[in-house]
Amino acid sequence: MTMPKNLAPETYVAQGMHRPDPISGDLIPSIQPSTTFARDENYQLIDAEHSYARDENPSFVTAERMLAHLEGGEEALLFASGMAAAGAVIQSLKPGDHVVIPKVMYWGLRNWMVDFCKRWRIELDQFDLADPDDLVRTMQAGKTALVWIETPCNPTWDLIDIETAAELAHGAGARLAIDSTVSTPVLTRPIEHGADIVMHSATKYLNGHGDVVAGALVTANNDDFWAEIHKTRAEAGAIPGAFEAWLLQRGMRTLFLRVVHASQSALAIAQHFENHPRLEAVLYPGLESHPGHDIAKKQMSAGFGGMLSLRVRGGAKRALEVARKCEVFIRATSLGGVESLIEHRYSIEGKRSPIPEDLLRLSIGIESVDDLIADLEQALS
Ligand SMILES: Cc1ncc(COP(=O)(O)O)c(C=O)c1O
Repeated sequence: MTMPKNLAPETYVAQGMHRPDPISGDLIPSIQPSTTFARDENYQLIDAEHSYARDENPSFVTAERMLAHLEGGEEALLFASGMAAAGAVIQSLKPGDHVVIPKVMYWGLRNWMVDFCKRWRIELDQFDLADPDDLVRTMQAGKTALVWIETPCNPTWDLIDIETAAELAHGAGARLAIDSTVSTPVLTRPIEHGADIVMHSATKYLNGHGDVVAGALVTANNDDFWAEIHKTRAEAGAIPGAFEAWLLQRGMRTLFLRVVHASQSALAIAQHFENHPRLEAVLYPGLESHPGHDIAKKQMSAGFGGMLSLRVRGGAKRALEVARKCEVFIRATSLGGVESLIEHRYSIEGKRSPIPEDLLRLSIGIESVDDLIADLEQALS
């Protein structure tokens, strides 16, 4: 029994793209913990797709199928973390290749890429998001193999026009890869805008419950580069456990509800605090005052995401005081869970960080938005 065609993405995801098993009648896919898979008397694999769990694992199939479908890609692969997923893309490049990344993006990945590319003899340049021509200046036609972007960019939520970036990358003979962790396929489907590879820290919204570290890649085309990435996963072995993959497909079933709710609350919070006297600025792509608002409207639908940042008047000391006074927001790193988090990014990233010292990053969960607003009001007072 297969699911009918042409259903809405929410429907496929809510049912996990899974039909009841004809033998057991189960509604939920099973976890397959086996590390190895048997052969018959003729030494043929009983299931031709499964030989050893590092190469392929039946427990990954549901989440991978759901994600490939949601992103409109040909295939998806799960990884042990978002960093492992991004790492597999970079490790599939060759020494001598040229890579372009934004100056503002998830700092852990940027630092790793800068360091790894130096050791791997991959040339890496960073472009300034604020200057649209800088991406053009940074690229080297015929040499740039990969343009890596993240949009909205963590934690300023600046926007990059995916369609323009894809045209520029393809014009130079490069692929476009995008970290779409913050948007999720509920809000943006980068492949429809020309991206070649979509990456997720599945630790965040895809799983959404703060209890799984995982990553994922989706490809627009099942081409040679994808085969190299697949080989990197199988051989370097950065795979999630069977139970984590199962938890991930369970978390993804409520993805639409969670992301739409968080986006509505984030917009309400951004609008409420936009001209607050104790704040320098509210950074949120859903606000008309945000420099990336027009791009956001073009490539985000169903909301502008659950992430926003507040720049607090009075610098780092005052920002930390606001974080300290929060009673509903929890002081913790990470994002995309059902509980709202507040974080002083500069304290985490340190002196090398381009992030303003007065910035507090908020990850909005699914609590009552009135409680969240009241908590921030009392913390700012
Ligand atoms: C936007 C973004 N990309 C990638 C990552 C790395 O993902 P993971 O922690 O799953 O390795 C993070 C983690 O915070 C992130 O926020």
